[in-house]
Amino acid sequence: MEQAKAYAEKNPMIVAGGGAVALLTAIMSVKAAKMNRDSKDYDSNAAAMKILNNEDHTLKKDQFNGTIDDYNSMFSGARETTGKITDAESIELRKARYQNMVDHFYNLVTDFYEWGWGQSFHFGPRFHNEDFIPSIARAEYYLCARTGMQEFVVENGVKRKMKALDVGCGVGGPMRNMAVFSQCCIEGITINEYQVNIGNKYNREHGLADKCLLKQGDFQNIPKVWPAEYFDAAFEIEATCHSPNRVDTFSGVAKVLKKGAMFAGYEWVMTDKYDKNNADHVRIKEGIEVGNGLPTLVHYSHVVECMEKSGFEVLDYYDANRGVHNANETPWYDTLNGKMSLSGFRMTHVGRMCTHAMVWTLETLRIAPEGSTKVSALLNATALDLVEGGQLEIFTPSFFFLGKKK
Ligand SMILES: C[S@@+](CC[C@H](N)C(=O)[O-])C[C@H]1O[C@@H](n2cnc3c(N)ncnc32)[C@H](O)[C@@H]1O
Repeated sequence: MEQAKAYAEKNPMIVAGGGAVALLTAIMSVKAAKMNRDSKDYDSNAAAMKILNNEDHTLKKDQFNGTIDDYNSMFSGARETTGKITDAESIELRKARYQNMVDHFYNLVTDFYEWGWGQSFHFGPRFHNEDFIPSIARAEYYLCARTGMQEFVVENGVKRKMKALDVGCGVGGPMRNMAVFSQCCIEGITINEYQVNIGNKYNREHGLADKCLLKQGDFQNIPKVWPAEYFDAAFEIEATCHSPNRVDTFSGVAKVLKKGAMFAGYEWVMTDKYDKNNADHVRIKEGIEVGNGLPTLVHYSHVVECMEKSGFEVLDYYDANRGVHNANETPWYDTLNGKMSLSGFRMTHVGRMCTHAMVWTLETLRIAPEGSTKVSALLNATALDLVEGGQLEIFTPSFFFLGKKK
């Protein structure tokens, strides 16, 4: 509540405006709201009522505050002392508790992500005259093209569509787009049960239940979930940055892939411009880590090394945002940076401030659970770090890699 109060003191107009909208919305919708989730929920502003407050959620109303406090305890000292969460002890704590860290994080942020961003929880390079949603879809279709997911497989003389694995699948936004695009079947894994429940619900609502399936599990142990050589292709989008040990993650992917199958992904990494002796760089890196449930961010070369150690021949890698400041590109972080567009308003700085004020009001009215405002504050702070990391080009969320199973 301290953060909320400080914010309210600094931004009285936004808080008052957001509060009034929220109050009106609440009064108008409290009767009408069906308090479970569906895939069109966040198309309307009234559905803000359902953020952390819906019957599909696996946390009970009184569990959110303890969850955000436990999450924050794994990043003790973050934003207070630069370098604190980069020390070995802090990183080891998060690696040891990665299951809690990631599960807590997605219990808390999944609704906010969907509300503000959509069902695909990732960034993508964006070109001039390209809207946000098509740029996100293009990043996904590119993975289909590079892994060959649109191809057929001939097995025992029978031609069939490919089966692909989505490593760290969120609520299945990419999976659904990619299944429609490539016509292949996709199964995904996420550690977070809430995401599995709503993701499979969305698959049914979109008529894709025969092509898309989310399973709950830990991608540190993928062979526990699927048999060896089950998949014809695999991809991960901005998920394995959560891994406490990428060799374990990638080796598991290799086990469930057929020989010669492709695995491609986009990783969150630090670039060559990151200088660990520059306090500003470290501050930005740590701000991204604490706001995104990451044990620690690594240099991109670590991802390539881990792929090579995990049974893949690395065929390609590069930063898909390498032209971030080229004349023909819209920087990936601009979406967060306040460039106004009606469709993307909620993602902008002002849009996030309105959401924050609304969440604060809903929490004060005891409609949203205690702790909601802390989650919103965490996400707002990290958005600024992402923008700074992108502006300085020390960080990219779209380090592309492609490997072939040996
Ligand atoms: C940023 S989200 C990306 C989701 C999805 N790829 C997308 O683009 O919409 C990261 C995902 O990785 C999953 N994840 C992180 N660590 C995991 C683990 N150890 N096992 C399974 N899933 C994990 C999270 O639950 C979440 O679904």
